[in-house]
Amino acid sequence: MKKVRWGILGSGWIVGASFVPALHRLGREAADAVIASRTPERAAQKAAEWELAGWAAPYDALIARDDIDVVYIALPNHLHEEWAVRALEAGKHVLVEKPLGLTVASEERMMAAADRSHRYLWEAYAFLFREQTRELVRRIQAGDIGAVTSIQSRFYADIGEDNIRWQPALGGGALYDLGVYPLRLAALWFSDPVRVSGTFRPHRGVDAETMADVWHPGAHRLQFAVGFTLPFQTGAVLYGTEGRFVVTNPYHPAPHDRVFVERRGEWEPVAVGDDGPTFFPMLSHITRAVAGEIPAGHRAGPGSLAVIRTVEQLRAAMTPI
Ligand SMILES: NC(=O)c1ccc[n+]([C@@H]2O[C@H](COP(=O)([O-])OP(=O)(O)OC[C@H]3O[C@@H](n4cnc5c(N)ncnc54)[C@H](OP(=O)(O)O)[C@@H]3O)[C@@H](O)[C@H]2O)c1
Repeated sequence: MKKVRWGILGSGWIVGASFVPALHRLGREAADAVIASRTPERAAQKAAEWELAGWAAPYDALIARDDIDVVYIALPNHLHEEWAVRALEAGKHVLVEKPLGLTVASEERMMAAADRSHRYLWEAYAFLFREQTRELVRRIQAGDIGAVTSIQSRFYADIGEDNIRWQPALGGGALYDLGVYPLRLAALWFSDPVRVSGTFRPHRGVDAETMADVWHPGAHRLQFAVGFTLPFQTGAVLYGTEGRFVVTNPYHPAPHDRVFVERRGEWEPVAVGDDGPTFFPMLSHITRAVAGEIPAGHRAGPGSLAVIRTVEQLRAAMTPI
């Protein structure tokens, strides 16, 4: 396989926690990475700490290099569009952190740039690439719980005082940061909503917690609760006409997480193989797609747009409490 060179824009939490472990698991013969930061000091320090192939500063210097195949954009949400478009126009494939953009128009501009430059664009929903999601999709398709009629999900994470997620101008707030996960999950089975409503707890100019009801055609329904107001907790229940799946962590399952299926009062565990650190299946897939080994799956497209359309509707409809 051709060795793929990643470029990383930004040196924050997600890069160290999820991207770097997955990159190292891929192995240096498959992929390496150059990191870019706003300052050369930080870029050099993080390249050394994370044992990367090199560094660049500022971000333009990385985009201008001709030895980068694919750029990972791990910047605050308000910078995703600008840097995705610049990287695509420079001929790189691009993986953008979620949420891809802050508006429908912004995501459409990114997708148009990918089309124009004939490059791939992905949004970093790692769970789409995971074995657990594939197994759920497969079993639901096979009729294990009948037709999915309703999804309930929650995702909470407490964040520090200085976190970018508290800054409205940077695209902060729980709906943009966490609400997009249940919306992306529901988009696997439900089409665009017919009615949305929600309530949020405002704090420091963003929604610190959001609870939403999203009605889809056919009375299909997503209910979710997300926020920065509790320590980490997540989960989902997928209700079907003949049973339900209970998923302890639908978005970033770890080896201790579990899936159960219930039918007519009988509970069974669902076996899911361990597919490594949460970003590993996504990075492995994208690296192989960029190397031309496999077709590029799970690209940013209708699923991403369905999420951001609903986010826009919710932001217009939600009331503060
Ligand atoms: N897919 C997932 O599972 C997942 C999980 C967590 C976060 N995310 C996403 O990843 C992105 C980054 O989140 P994070 O938690 O890693 O954030 P973070 O720790 O605050 O890191 C953001 C990085 O962006 C750069 N940056 C550029 N302009 C900035 C500004 N005005 N203020 C602050 N930082 C700025 C900084 O890197 P330099 O100083 O090196 O330039 C900084 O380290 C967000 O879009 C978030 O939604 C995704």
